[in-house]
Amino acid sequence: MEKFIVEKSHSLKGVIDISGSKNAALPILAACVLTDGECIIEGVPPLNDVTTMLELIRELGCKTSYEGETISVRGKDIDNLTLDYNEVKKIRASFLLAGAMLSRFGRADIALPGGCSIGLRPVDLHLKGFEALGAVCENEHGIIHIRCEKLKGCEIYLDFPSVGATENIMLAASLAEGTTLIRNCAAEPEIADLADFLNKMGADIEGAGSDLIKINGVKSLHGCHHRIIPDRIEAGTFMLAAAATGGKIRLNNVCTAHMTALIHKLREAGAQINEEENSITLEKRGKTVNTCIKTMPYPGFPTDMQAQFMALMATGRGTGIVNETVFENRFMCAGELTRMGADIKVEGRCAVVKGVRELTGTAVKATDLRAGAALIISALAAEGKTEIGEIEHIDRGYFHIENKLSGIGARIERRSYED
Ligand code: EPZ
Repeated sequence: MEKFIVEKSHSLKGVIDISGSKNAALPILAACVLTDGECIIEGVPPLNDVTTMLELIRELGCKTSYEGETISVRGKDIDNLTLDYNEVKKIRASFLLAGAMLSRFGRADIALPGGCSIGLRPVDLHLKGFEALGAVCENEHGIIHIRCEKLKGCEIYLDFPSVGATENIMLAASLAEGTTLIRNCAAEPEIADLADFLNKMGADIEGAGSDLIKINGVKSLHGCHHRIIPDRIEAGTFMLAAAATGGKIRLNNVCTAHMTALIHKLREAGAQINEEENSITLEKRGKTVNTCIKTMPYPGFPTDMQAQFMALMATGRGTGIVNETVFENRFMCAGELTRMGADIKVEGRCAVVKGVRELTGTAVKATDLRAGAALIISALAAEGKTEIGEIEHIDRGYFHIENKLSGIGARIERRSYED
């Protein structure tokens, strides 16, 4: 087992190069199953979620290689279209393989991913899309058996702009007969990056990044070469760490156009932010001014930044309100922050954060990926030493976060210990 030992770190200063986006890489890896050609994907950090997804793609029969941050996938020898629960439960994004397998092979047998700590995470909208395209989906003992000779394009309305459902339907519709319209779809930058990748493979997709995506099905797709967009959540996490310690940092390899909501809320909280197209500088002195955040589908405030912003507000001036509208159970880190002395009251999907003078270090644990990142932020600003356990959650989405933070003056180290 491993944990982070974090000590109070005054005003983080320096430059960080941001890695490629985990949430862009995962659907793009699933898209590689759509062709027997070779796909080369650059700028993919070796995160645990990425290596897990690659293992699953190899389970299907794909040949893969991973050199540095460049992945090659060749879907020529796929001979298995079944993923059981032991494989699917490792990473929810494995469910995106369903759309790709169904589209190219007309079938997929894949376990329902089940819930996780932040919510039930149903896949009903994914299945609604597959059935609208003509597939039959049957649940037997927790395995969804999906069949369709040839998917036919149609118009699909998503009750909620689900990122995963939008991606899965795009993957399925790419090789369907005719045109598919996805209305009220997700508009996240990772959706646009997936569409960009699919179009490089020969797909015909327009509208990605808006609430209406049009996919004209094509007969086949070929390999391609692509570089993943920067990770806006990793970038935002480091900005909040610098803001929490009253520092000044510059981030390179960012796409500031993807970070508008966070930039505006950080300015409201008292940070000075200078944005260029592919880099951003944040400086923050003095106390955070607590504000209100409401998580929304893109371009609203990202739910994946909610816990980290709550950690910032824990020692801010005044009272902040956090309204989590996307997931039903995403305040898990409030309990751990309270153990550090935070004053947070959770009522349903709302949390009231009353700023305290200072948090104090203690032993805490990461309950999920972003809650773990929030604990690092709070620990960097807290008096004394904090031990963060169960950091495997953090490693799923941040590549050696302690190295990047140490590079700007953070006092953080990774330690192994017997459980
Ligand atoms: C993606 O998850 C991201 N993961 C999540 O990031 C992110 O928080 C989320 O989108 C929202 O932005 C990846 O991209 C790998 P959703 P996803 O489908 O696709 C409900 C992180 O920390 N819903 O948009 O699973 C669902 O219950 C992770 O990097 C249905 O009801 O999110 C939730 O309340 C965490 N039925 C809401 O929609 C469905 O069929 C948003 O889920 C699908 C979703």
